[in-house]
Amino acid sequence: MTPIEASAPGKLMLFGEHAVVYGYPSIVTAVDQRIYAKAESVAAKTFSVIAPEVEMPEYSKSVEDVGNGQIPRSVEFLERLYARFRAKYPQAQGISVTTRSEFSSKFGFGSSSAVTAAFAKALNELYSTNMTEQEMFDLCYKTVLDVQGVGSGFDLAAAIWGGTLYYVKPAKVVEQLRIDELPLVVGYTGIKADTASIVNRVKAEKEHGPVVDGIFDQVGALVEIAKTAILAADWRLVGELMTQNQALLEELRVSSPELDILIDAADAAGAYGAKLSGAGGGDCMIAVTDVHKKEDVERGIASAISIQGTMKAGQVIHVHTHAQGARIEG
Ligand code: PMV
Repeated sequence: MTPIEASAPGKLMLFGEHAVVYGYPSIVTAVDQRIYAKAESVAAKTFSVIAPEVEMPEYSKSVEDVGNGQIPRSVEFLERLYARFRAKYPQAQGISVTTRSEFSSKFGFGSSSAVTAAFAKALNELYSTNMTEQEMFDLCYKTVLDVQGVGSGFDLAAAIWGGTLYYVKPAKVVEQLRIDELPLVVGYTGIKADTASIVNRVKAEKEHGPVVDGIFDQVGALVEIAKTAILAADWRLVGELMTQNQALLEELRVSSPELDILIDAADAAGAYGAKLSGAGGGDCMIAVTDVHKKEDVERGIASAISIQGTMKAGQVIHVHTHAQGARIEG
């Protein structure tokens, strides 16, 4: 059998992070930086991974042991997905998978979900299993829960369906927003966020009293307005709503000094609005701008100096939004 290469995009959360974990709607866009997984059926009964960009570049084990024993973190999504795939679609042969990425796993673009989606897409094609996108999502989402226990699956939805999605977990609602590209500027703080620990802290606070629920109700209402504003390409309003969403995220105490500095820099340079994207604590911020202000906003972010000394300057990451979902390459 000839090898099959598939790819899936990274993502940026536009509105509704954290609340989405509790069933509120969110809006996510796929970005045009992708992860690739090439799958090849092999006669040996082994599961092998070649991933030059991670700390365990080569890994192999018997297919009988897939999903069992100690699994290195860098291959865990691939191995657990393959374990679930084999359980559903038994295979006589083994498999070799080679991955490569167009973006650093540090950015918070959802590299784990993208690599999982790309591998699922490649397996589906290789073995003609005819999974629908929904079935692929279900398999990948179970895999993500196997590995990290928490997550709304918004990043998987972006990786599988692509475009810009109005999303309610777990893919209960996946509505494609029919727009062109969003006028976004993306700034990276240089700090890797620990999503699971931030999500768990919010969970503990939510269980402690009504404050978090009150914030989430406001986020949920804001997402509905944002959906209409995005569909109308009213970027000024989209920016204002981002600023409001950011204020609610600050109330949740998930922002960070570095994110705040980059967001302030974007605002000072004339952006319509800005917010963190994802769990918070680091990773990236996003700003919506008029096309004529884009360069000013990029310069503002790139020259923002941290008073904390933890960040020299924001790194502008050039991406196109509304990218295509998981696809077969070649
Ligand atoms: O940090 P990221 O990019 O994985 O985003 C996390 C977003 C949360 O809403 C906080 C968690 C989730 O799974 O939706």
